[in-house]
Amino acid sequence: MPKIVFVEHNGSRHEVEAEVGLSIMQVAVNNLVPGVLADCGGTCSCATCHAYVDEVWFRRLPLPSEDEQMMLEGALEQRSNSRLTCQVMTTGQLDGAVFHLPASQC
Ligand code: FES
Repeated sequence: MPKIVFVEHNGSRHEVEAEVGLSIMQVAVNNLVPGVLADCGGTCSCATCHAYVDEVWFRRLPLPSEDEQMMLEGALEQRSNSRLTCQVMTTGQLDGAVFHLPASQC
């Protein structure tokens, strides 16, 4: 199983095993990672699963859908490497990927 790394705003690091096919949000929730609120349950309508993806990994992700882009525009503290983790699926190619969680989701 690929390992996914979540880094909270305070620097706390959580390295978890991820099931391929689950969203990165679901992986965080299943592993009780703080800072991924996921208020809408993964329907791309809340932006509380926002994360900043390490640049190397960001470039490897499929492009966001139009819906995700629209939600990201309304997210707090959006950056060029922002993604909604409910829209990013776990694959074997993401082994070691790092997602930084924003302060707004503490
Ligand atoms: S969980 Fe709501 S947009 Fe991702």
